Amino acid sequence: MANKVESWGTRVGLILAMAGNAVGLGNFLRFPVQAVQNGGGAFMIPYLVSFLLMGIPLLFIEWSTGRYGGKFGNHSTPFILDTMARGRAWKYVGVFGIFTNIAVVSYYCYIESWTMSYVFHSLKGTFVGLSQGEVAAFFNNYVDIAHSTTGIPFEAVVFYVIVLLLNTYVLSKGIKGVEKVAKIGMPLLILFGVILAVKGLTLGTSGASAMFPNANAWDGLNFLWTPQFDSLTNPKVWLAAAGQIFFTLSVGMGTIHCYAAYVRSKDDIALNAVSAGFMNEFVEVVLGSLIVIPIAAGYLGLDWVKENAGFGMAFQTMPYLFQQWGTVLAAVAGVLWFGLLFFAGITSSLAMGTPWVSFMKDEFNWSNAKGAWSFGLITLLVGLPTVFFYQQGVFDEYDYWGGTVSLVIFALFETILFSWIFGINKGWKEINYGADIKVPLIYKFIIKYITPLMLLFVFVGATFTPLGNDWTGNITSLFTGNGWSLDNASIIKQLTHAGLNEQLAAATDPQIIDKLNEKMFFSNLARIILLSLFIFIGLMVYVAYLKRKKEGRVTL
Ligand code: PHE
Repeated sequence: MANKVESWGTRVGLILAMAGNAVGLGNFLRFPVQAVQNGGGAFMIPYLVSFLLMGIPLLFIEWSTGRYGGKFGNHSTPFILDTMARGRAWKYVGVFGIFTNIAVVSYYCYIESWTMSYVFHSLKGTFVGLSQGEVAAFFNNYVDIAHSTTGIPFEAVVFYVIVLLLNTYVLSKGIKGVEKVAKIGMPLLILFGVILAVKGLTLGTSGASAMFPNANAWDGLNFLWTPQFDSLTNPKVWLAAAGQIFFTLSVGMGTIHCYAAYVRSKDDIALNAVSAGFMNEFVEVVLGSLIVIPIAAGYLGLDWVKENAGFGMAFQTMPYLFQQWGTVLAAVAGVLWFGLLFFAGITSSLAMGTPWVSFMKDEFNWSNAKGAWSFGLITLLVGLPTVFFYQQGVFDEYDYWGGTVSLVIFALFETILFSWIFGINKGWKEINYGADIKVPLIYKFIIKYITPLMLLFVFVGATFTPLGNDWTGNITSLFTGNGWSLDNASIIKQLTHAGLNEQLAAATDPQIIDKLNEKMFFSNLARIILLSLFIFIGLMVYVAYLKRKKEGRVTL
């Protein structure tokens, strides 16, 4: 191999990079929304159970799989999986570990670019004196590329390209560059987060106004933290909780494997995995729940939060709420909030860049710079449609297939590979090799049986989600011979555009029909792009395989 073998500089650097990989926009934007939409305190128990029974086991699996691959000079999932099993197909399962990253990073960087632009606008004072509606409208204006009047022409595109260039630049410096950014970004993120969380904790009823006389920040906290047991039997809440655990820990993606492949073969992974995992949970569960929800509930009331929980809260509401603190503090708060989101974002998007860069380096002797620039270019190509056609739903389509479904499929495969093909005994040895903690033996059992079963349950549940999410009703119906009705949210119905087709069939207004047809077009376009990306990476893996064969580097 022409490139000298890289590895992490220090243990702190490694943990911060891994934590930075996990801590992302998901912790501050996705978690609070999921929690609110799934009943607050009702969400937290399935969430914590999923963390212990799926999250932690997957962290162990991915860290040890990655370090194992690194020993053989493999730093991305196709050939990491290949060395673990005698079966040619596994390297194509490993394609997911590059594909998902590019699919996700292409829209993830778009959100990252909003955070950068909002730091700029907070400093510039763009939001000063605007009403709540006007601040919300600013966002809609911003993402409406062709008609945007937010200042810079094509502003959303400009910031998107800047963010991609920044990511590309850091990636071109190799793993040490990533480490440096994590060492600066993570402490700042936590500092900013703590300052805002103190505000969330102490706001209380002081934000109540004539319009929202009952607003109380503590209502938001109580809603999240009063456990509710009645939804424990609702699979919908379990699916949402499991999905959040996946996304937030970055498992099922191939990024952890890649980072772990740069761990020296004798170094600990068990304690490192747990440390990075718990750091992510601290940021998510503590900081993530102490900012948006209580601050919004403190000014607008809990009912408003429940009705409006969504992505928009962070960008459409927070800048307005900050204005209540006066012009100067509003600018400071805006910089803290969007700056925090920016650091959370970039340490994650860098992680998503490394599998491709590493693959090209391992297989084709590319330099970090060449790998990074090609990554930037591919991401630009795949990502521009999300920027230009955000409102037409390309973004959501990527998030669904790339950021949700793929993760579960890959996690299911890799767990089966680890526990049942590579073998749990060998796997357990890998986890414990060089370990600085004693991993409780119960985890051997969990990894072998519980985690795969839970993953299967999540996958089947998402594929065959019953109509109206009514599980008991549909199970009864199934056993009484009346069949199973699928919900439009099920993967199967999503695949056939069932929901859109129904809307189309019912629509009479030509304008609405036009809109729906447009949506259909862009959703298909997004799928074609994703499928092409998958096939392209699959072909690259095939070419790499032929190359290895020629060089006599294939064991099969
Ligand atoms: N875990 C990150 C977040 O919470 C997202 C991410 C997923 C990052 C996969 C890297 C890989 O936002």
